[in-house]
Amino acid sequence: MMTKEMYKKKMEKECEQKRIVESDPYRLKFHIQPPMGWLNDPNGLFEKDGIFHIYYQYSPFEPQGGTKLWGHYTTEDFIEFKEHEPFLFADWRYDERGVYSGSAFVEDGTIHYFYTGNVKLFDRDDYDYCNNGREQNTIHITSLDGFSHSEKQLIMTDRDYPADMSCHVRDPKIFKKSGIYYMVLGGRDVNSHGCLLIYRSEDLENWEEFDRLSIPDFGYMWECPDLFELDGELFLVFSPQGLEEDGLNNRNIYQTGYCKLDYDFQTKQCTFSKFQELDRGFDYYAPQSFEDEQGRRIQFGWMGMGDATYTNEPTIEKGWQHAFTLPRQLHAENGHIYQMPIEELKNLRDKTYRSTIGDFKDPNFGPCIEWDIQFDESVPFTIKMYGDIEISYDGKLLKMSMAESGYGRDWRAIEIDQIKDLKIMLDTSSIEMFVNNGWTVFSSRMYPKTAMNLSIESASEGTVAIHSLDSVKIENNE
Ligand code: FRU
Repeated sequence: MMTKEMYKKKMEKECEQKRIVESDPYRLKFHIQPPMGWLNDPNGLFEKDGIFHIYYQYSPFEPQGGTKLWGHYTTEDFIEFKEHEPFLFADWRYDERGVYSGSAFVEDGTIHYFYTGNVKLFDRDDYDYCNNGREQNTIHITSLDGFSHSEKQLIMTDRDYPADMSCHVRDPKIFKKSGIYYMVLGGRDVNSHGCLLIYRSEDLENWEEFDRLSIPDFGYMWECPDLFELDGELFLVFSPQGLEEDGLNNRNIYQTGYCKLDYDFQTKQCTFSKFQELDRGFDYYAPQSFEDEQGRRIQFGWMGMGDATYTNEPTIEKGWQHAFTLPRQLHAENGHIYQMPIEELKNLRDKTYRSTIGDFKDPNFGPCIEWDIQFDESVPFTIKMYGDIEISYDGKLLKMSMAESGYGRDWRAIEIDQIKDLKIMLDTSSIEMFVNNGWTVFSSRMYPKTAMNLSIESASEGTVAIHSLDSVKIENNE
């Protein structure tokens, strides 16, 4: 349990800890990160009346994770943020071990949230983490402003899920089509096959089983499903666990990617396109998207990875861990999702440096930069930064590699026929590289110890632009 009262009492004693976190040189300048402690998945994202609400899985007192609350930021422009008191606490019999991931859906001025209440019955003899001794409750609350909420309402328990499901069913997200609401939940059946459960409702209150989708032999658990239409195509983004490493693919312990679905909601006929990883870096998981008031589909991901062999030791030592990736706007073309940083981030730009590739010299703008490179020809290149971080292309393989700065992160790569452009967003301890206008992305944490020392070597002509980036502003509104 972590009630609001328990949180407030503990927080009063944490001033010194907060100061240590704030003075950490690896604290990010323009990413969402926990005020202290641990952050994982983005939750409950929406925009209402021009205000974006961004919630996240949050364990304020445990940088290695613990009982999860929903932390809360708001912003109107992605430059100035307000930090609020957590929105959801683990204060009820049905969510006592954590208010797990969930989403928001705005309808007629009311925000409907659905999330998973986690209960672990450790004192039961048959508790085995997977099939016994655990409850996954689907809970509904409403709010008019995103700050205060109605009473928690239990809408589904383990008894309501299909009988052959394990105790792993979670992370509800809503998709509306032709006046009907569909709730997707990620699941693991008793035979350890990952799947998607779909429920149907006409009023957001009463839910009935609608369908179950899966791909043969495709992981033991599917986490954080997100079903949405994008540029006229239907996509399922999800985070499967248990995929085999396959050459350059699936090199992280858990994956995040998407399939384009050909799904007939009448006949329930469904075909999945081939799964494609959304991000090829070391730290990307459990993303969530929402449609904003302008109709853009914006996605945040967790720039972290559970159970990875590589670490974030330098920040754990200071009492915090993890961040979100930058918000990305999504577009689709022929079944492929393109991802680029949202427009608003251009307002972080301060100084600008421009040159040709041949004449490039590091302008020494400090650790926060946006680095754009346009290649006239797709020929090999090598980009270096911080002495041991390298991005290379040999005409076929695009590779990001790290040594000590990676704290166990070694290399990730993808085959690409040609490279036209790169946008590299560097924050104090993160790198996000957008390739060919967002065709693919590499996101990673990194902990450099030396000066940045940027260089680029290539036989191609082309142009380089670097913008130094300001910090976002965060006002504490607790
Ligand atoms: C994904 C996840 C979700 C769960 C949440 C708990 O990272 O495991 O499936 O709801 O994190 O924090």
